[in-house]
Amino acid sequence: MFDKIKETATSVAEKVVAEPQKAWVSDERTPYLGFEMDENGNVLGKAKGGVHALMLAGSGTGKSRTVLAPAIILWKEGVVFAVSAKGDLAELTAAHRNGGPCYLMDLTGQVDPSEIPADVTHVVSDPCALLVPDATGSTDDSAYDIATLLVQVGAAGLSGGKDSSGDSAFWATLSLGVLACLLQAGAGYPDPETGEWVDGGGINWVLAASRNSSSRDSDEDGTDLFDLDTPSWDTAALRAGLVDSIHADDVEATKNLDPKQVDSVKINLKVATSAWTKRAIRGTGDSVPFTPDMLEQNNATFYMVSPSNGAGASAAVSVIDSVVNHWVLNAARKMPKMLMVLDEMPVIAPWKRLREAVGLLRSYGLTFLVAAQHSTQFTARFGKEEADALLAIFPSILVGVGAIEEDLLKRAAWTIPATERRTESKDSAARNNSSKDRAETAQAAELLPRHTGEGQLLIRGMPGPRVKLVDLKYM
Ligand SMILES: Nc1ncnc2c1ncn2[C@@H]1O[C@H](COP(=O)(O)OP(=O)(O)OP(=O)(O)O)[C@@H](O)[C@H]1O
Ligand SMILES: [Mg+2]
Repeated sequence: MFDKIKETATSVAEKVVAEPQKAWVSDERTPYLGFEMDENGNVLGKAKGGVHALMLAGSGTGKSRTVLAPAIILWKEGVVFAVSAKGDLAELTAAHRNGGPCYLMDLTGQVDPSEIPADVTHVVSDPCALLVPDATGSTDDSAYDIATLLVQVGAAGLSGGKDSSGDSAFWATLSLGVLACLLQAGAGYPDPETGEWVDGGGINWVLAASRNSSSRDSDEDGTDLFDLDTPSWDTAALRAGLVDSIHADDVEATKNLDPKQVDSVKINLKVATSAWTKRAIRGTGDSVPFTPDMLEQNNATFYMVSPSNGAGASAAVSVIDSVVNHWVLNAARKMPKMLMVLDEMPVIAPWKRLREAVGLLRSYGLTFLVAAQHSTQFTARFGKEEADALLAIFPSILVGVGAIEEDLLKRAAWTIPATERRTESKDSAARNNSSKDRAETAQAAELLPRHTGEGQLLIRGMPGPRVKLVDLKYM
């Protein structure tokens, strides 16, 4: 059996390798989702899912070893971006990624270096390094987008997963302009005399500056000193002014508010940047900050390991958002096809734009392979409406053991035409509604996988093939 699988995996791999070097052409590249089986359990070949896929299976059932890791290895001639809670994806696949550059961002500080190939470049997370310039070179929009994400995700982290609303949302919104300005200032500024680019000190500078709304001393004439160093809102506004940022004005406007209101903004800044107060997330030593353009080389691979309790969620979503924006803004340059693997997505990378991305970003060369333990994790994080909509538009969903996806499977069973229902022949009153319901329930239960070596594919909500899931070491 395994020989057959090995043979199939090898032939699939060879076929993918043999494809001509045109990764950005609109080919129908889909992520690996196991092997399709016939009714007798014989392997027919690589299962064909849709362009994006969601895997739902319980903890420890093989999501990483049987699906995500093989999908990363089989994604040849393209870029892989992988987020997970453990170092396992990097450990299992880094040595098999076709020779491109590999980057590792470890936000847990717990990845064992001896398990990672020596040529993997260690990078740190810094939102200031994630600003993506638009066609005019301005980072205003990018800074505002990242500020919005940090405020939203930071607040959701503190409120146990729910988005902030009402009053707190008002203060959060007020702090966006100031945070955008601080991020631009932390990224750097042109020296007013020489025009040379000066490093802004990154997130460490932003953390210090966010606490200090005013640093402007006056000399004896009462004129302001031109201070570009002291971390403060004022300095940030000066630096941002040097890059013509529209957010520089927000600092002055916010400072003129009632002191209590200024304090509220400061609290929001603290919440938004709280992830970086942890050493593991800020990074230490001489690792370089990750920038999205690092992934432009074909075959590049980026691994992010983010704490399973969601403590790195802000860092994770800001990197995802920035990489996606980089791909969209630079689409004219024909970016390589990228597989984005987001493991434990609702917990460690709760990126709100996932639905938009799954619905619209295929033409930008982005393919999403998302994993979670159960669909209710999306409901807990994004709310019922958003989660339902997201589940409804995923072109393919792979259900493994441990995920009792009653609703998804029942709905899939409901789509089976009456003539194909196996239970119908036994039931002479199949046209009666209640027995039709029973038939659907029975069919849904039949779709549920019973052991870790198998999964049930749903294609556009309808029952797809039963698939065989094989541990990476047998491939
Ligand atoms: N070297 C190995 N060879 C074969 N099987 C292994 C190996 N190491 C672990 N396993 C098995 O693989 C399973 C775990 O697989 P995997 O880590 O892919 O699951 P997962 O669904 O990703 O889990 P988690 O929710 O913890 O991320 C376990 O049942 C474990 O016994
Ligand atoms: Mg896993």
